[in-house]
Amino acid sequence: MSPSSWRTLPFLLLVSVTSVFASSKSFENTAIVRTAELGGSVVHVTTTYAIKALDDGQKTYTVALGRAEREKTSFIEAKVKGSKEPLKIKERALDTSKDYHLVDITLPKALSTDKTLNLVLETVQTHATWPSPATAAQNEDQSLKYQTNLLILSPYKTSVQRTKVKTLSPRIISYTTPENAKDLTDKDVVTKSGATVTYGPYDNLPSSTNKEFIEKYQQSILIHYHHEQPVLEVLNLQRSVEVSHWGANINTEDKIDLYNAGPKLKGHFSRLQHQSQKYFNKLSAHVLPALTLHLPAGLSNPYYYDLIGNVSTSNIRIAPSVPKNKQGTQFSVLEIRPRYPLLGGWNYTFTLGWDLPLGDVASYDKSAGKYTVEVPIMTPLLGAVVNNAELSVVLPEGASNIEILEPFPALAKRTDIHKTYLDTTGRPRLTFIYKNLTVKHAESIYVSYKLSWVAHLKKPVAVSTAILGLFTLGMFVRRINLSLTPTRKV
Ligand SMILES: *[C@@H]1O[C@H](CO)[C@@H](O)[C@H](O)[C@H]1NC(C)=O
Ligand SMILES: *[C@@H]1O[C@H](CO)[C@@H](O)[C@H](O)[C@H]1NC(C)=O
Ligand SMILES: *[C@@H]1O[C@H](CO)[C@@H](O)[C@H](O)[C@H]1NC(C)=O
Repeated sequence: MSPSSWRTLPFLLLVSVTSVFASSKSFENTAIVRTAELGGSVVHVTTTYAIKALDDGQKTYTVALGRAEREKTSFIEAKVKGSKEPLKIKERALDTSKDYHLVDITLPKALSTDKTLNLVLETVQTHATWPSPATAAQNEDQSLKYQTNLLILSPYKTSVQRTKVKTLSPRIISYTTPENAKDLTDKDVVTKSGATVTYGPYDNLPSSTNKEFIEKYQQSILIHYHHEQPVLEVLNLQRSVEVSHWGANINTEDKIDLYNAGPKLKGHFSRLQHQSQKYFNKLSAHVLPALTLHLPAGLSNPYYYDLIGNVSTSNIRIAPSVPKNKQGTQFSVLEIRPRYPLLGGWNYTFTLGWDLPLGDVASYDKSAGKYTVEVPIMTPLLGAVVNNAELSVVLPEGASNIEILEPFPALAKRTDIHKTYLDTTGRPRLTFIYKNLTVKHAESIYVSYKLSWVAHLKKPVAVSTAILGLFTLGMFVRRINLSLTPTRKV
């Protein structure tokens, strides 16, 4: 045996073990229903599996996603239907030689023969639609395309499956009719009703995570639909959060690069035409005149500026402060009105920020001697994906024994020391990097740390030292001044 074949041996073993698992007769699907809700830059997909155990002690159920689908998926979660508790999932390594990707779900308890369970798999795809046509004039409609696989693959036999594709508006321009799905059903291969296109029901499918099945039956379906909201992407979100015990304050600042990913503007922008369209309430769907953000209740000192300066045409309604356990039940509402409407292919960069009383989001655990601060990762922007996000949290000087609790792992993390004027030792700064965030990721990080009474005093000491310094300097300058005053003897 050559060294290279030695090296592939464990790999081959692994592959064969995996395929034994995947094709095992441990379950069957009595029904699978997949619903894709098409948006602009974000598509929500919910798949319900009605499963039946064919053997005792079955604890791991395996689902298959199309490979291209997996590459677009930025959020994945499995639950038992009706339960709030997410199940443990484990993704197998992405195998680029296969058209599918396997994910193992650990059931809450082992199923015995003939026991059934309904599982719900929720995924969110980003950048899965594209404008078609790719350009549109200021007064033209916006339509998008979405492509996915016709069939839901599974390592197990499936009695019946269907896929529903839903759009926000019933104006569906076209959809694929899959010709070679005819022997999977004795009904219509596809039907449309209002804003829903349904593929299936398709009956009696064998285990389908294999090449033979995929080559014979799997195919792409394409939906072309009108979308009556702008397609928004946040190219970059930079959120900086600064915790101050000295001021009993937490400051949040977001720098946002917003991009309209709808059809690019054809021809020139006419403000006159825009005004008249607005007047007659006939703005095209791809034009964004304003957007609304839900900020925390109880905020103070809100600000919003862009590259030119303060934007005075924006509005904010501040909700009164709510206690820690009620955060997220009430919001201050900020309406942002950019200086110009955002058309397809255009960017708008702006910064907004606000203060919150530290007591609204921080708590102190006496027994551990630690503070815990809740830091939201992002403020969701309706229907938008955040392509790149960087969250930095600056803790007070002297914060130690720092621990973090994350709702999901960041792509990268680092800790360093942030030093500004009046800092002596500098403040610990935690930075988290993310990609492809959606509303499903709008959760909070909890940061806990110790702060000794010496650290608490550091700021006042630094400030008084600085004041004393200025005072001394002042005296010194005055003396110098005195001595330098040209004394003219008259
Ligand atoms: C983000 O989304 C794009 C487009 O769907 C994808 O190509 C990319 O791999 C994703 N990145 C991460 C880190 O998920
Ligand atoms: C912007 O608004 C803030 C708060 O209203 C104000 O303090 C600041 O001076 C303004 N800046 C400019 C450049 O107008
Ligand atoms: C929008 O911003 C992106 C990223 O910074 C840039 O590549 C693109 O050229 C910008 N588009 C316009 C029209 O300025």
